[in-house]
Amino acid sequence: SRTAAVIPAAGRGVRLGPGAPKALRALSGTPMLIHAVRAMAASRAVSLVVVVAPPDGAAEVKTLLADHALPERTDFVVVPGGATRQESVKLGLDALPADVGIVLVHDAARPLVPVDTVDGVIEAVRDGAPAVVPALPVADTVKEVEPGAPGEPEPVVATPERARLRAVQTPQGFDRATLVRAHGAAVVGEGATDDAGLVERLGEPVVLVPGHEEAFKVTRPLDLVLAEAVLARRRA
Ligand code: CTP
Ligand code: MG
Repeated sequence: SRTAAVIPAAGRGVRLGPGAPKALRALSGTPMLIHAVRAMAASRAVSLVVVVAPPDGAAEVKTLLADHALPERTDFVVVPGGATRQESVKLGLDALPADVGIVLVHDAARPLVPVDTVDGVIEAVRDGAPAVVPALPVADTVKEVEPGAPGEPEPVVATPERARLRAVQTPQGFDRATLVRAHGAAVVGEGATDDAGLVERLGEPVVLVPGHEEAFKVTRPLDLVLAEAVLARRRA
């Protein structure tokens, strides 16, 4: 069976500040989404990439894909996304052909993930794990708070032991049937911030494999500075 990558790219990018939808903004002259598509297509195992475009931007994304050099061996499909990441991923899953057995879900906002990380995730799914997540140890100590009124100091509830925490990345890899079941069971409004979280709610096992520093998510303006620096280092 085939391995496909679904790329949710329908977000606005509010935290990045005003401008075009985040996935369409340029990094080193090339839209972030194109970097992310190339990162998935760089894996020999990935034969299909489904891009979930901004709801009113599917035509523009199709044009972008046509205008940039992409591997011939990979098929590309574009579908319009939804109001939340979870809905966008679901719309991408609905577009998968029947012969896809393994699905990667990869944020367009992680344009620089190395192919070795992608292949490591796929390999772990092939070895039998229904859900595989690339992750790294957490650098900062993390506090759990009781959210209060905006502008007021927040009371701390707990400090989880840092050594047991991991920051998770994408691509997350899944047995297709498991991921479809997880999204089918998901309650809208009780949104999970990642796909593996939905699989956990099914009671199915989720495992972590090593992530990569360069798989960081472009979220705030400083992340653009880091992404440009990584690309400059790759060119050097
Ligand atoms: N995403 C999506 N559909 C949505 C919201 C998010 O496909 N309705 C995608 C984003 O395009 C991104 C990924 O989910 O590739 C991770 O989300 P995030 O980093 O939060 O991006 P945005 O939601 O665009 O950013 P922000 O939360 O700052 O608005
Ligand atoms: Mg978001």
